[in-house]
Amino acid sequence: DRMPALLRAMPKAELHMHIEGSLEPELMFALAKRNSVPLRFPSEQALRDAYVFNNLQEFLDIYHEGTMVLKTEQDFYDMTCAYLAKAQADNVLHTEIFFDTQTHTGHGLSAETVINGLYRACADAPAKFGMTASLILCFLRHLSEEEAFECLEQALPLRDKIVGIGLASSEVGHPPEKFAKVYARARELGFRLVAHAGEEAPPAYIWSALDVLKVERIDHGVQAIHDAALMQRLAADKMPLTVCPLSNLKLRVFPTLAQHNIGTMLDAGIMATVNSDDPAYFGGYLNENFTQTFAALGLSAQHAYALARNSFDASFIDASLRQKYA
Ligand code: ADE
Ligand code: ZN
Repeated sequence: DRMPALLRAMPKAELHMHIEGSLEPELMFALAKRNSVPLRFPSEQALRDAYVFNNLQEFLDIYHEGTMVLKTEQDFYDMTCAYLAKAQADNVLHTEIFFDTQTHTGHGLSAETVINGLYRACADAPAKFGMTASLILCFLRHLSEEEAFECLEQALPLRDKIVGIGLASSEVGHPPEKFAKVYARARELGFRLVAHAGEEAPPAYIWSALDVLKVERIDHGVQAIHDAALMQRLAADKMPLTVCPLSNLKLRVFPTLAQHNIGTMLDAGIMATVNSDDPAYFGGYLNENFTQTFAALGLSAQHAYALARNSFDASFIDASLRQKYA
């Protein structure tokens, strides 16, 4: 079977990963020590053993706990470099990295500490890792729209370090409409727009991400399968979906990878991509998502080329750089 080798060697872009979700237990323990932050787990293995989730919320609780070790600009730089090294090993040529400022400002850090640390790693990416990297600030949807406005305000002095705005955290009960005004403002400011929609919540959340928030990509979007009119809309508009197969498996969106719908989505003409979401928690970086998904679903080389092509076409790489990947 030559598919795994093809998948690994294939140049690709990653469009959906949360940098805080790339914090491996080894680095978490090292940062806990460096910053004198107590951890309730006795060992890295004990922490890893706790990575068993029944749904998104159970994951978010432990993910949030892990972020407590992040204190300095250097911590954000080191975490990002560790991810970029993994991405380079997976032949990722370009990555768009989610981060949630509010998680860290909620722990008393400044937005500048977070954004400057992340950005310095992205700026070093071409020389250090032979790839490009940009940043997408995600609002936390379980918090209020007013708090999202505050977060946007705090990021504005660092406007040039951020390419886009996203929406993450607990989905059900926090529909896109809640953030209509702050997305309209972000649009005026020239940010590219994405949002998590249809990870666990029904197709209505995808419709309103498109029609109310006016996003340019849907993060996850796998629940679209339950709405034929929405499937047609996504295909007709070439609306990218940033799908995260191992995440969906670990958070029990699908009972097994063999039941994942990404093959059906591609065959329906939807512009799907493969991504790692929170690779330290979900059992693998980008190539692991590709190889396990292709093995479970029996996808073809045509599917592989389509996914690679989609990842660049759906990216926010500027036009001059895009030539290089055509
Ligand atoms: N934050 C980090 N990972 C997430 C996910 N898969 N869904 C929503 N919010 C997240
Ligand atoms: Zn995500």
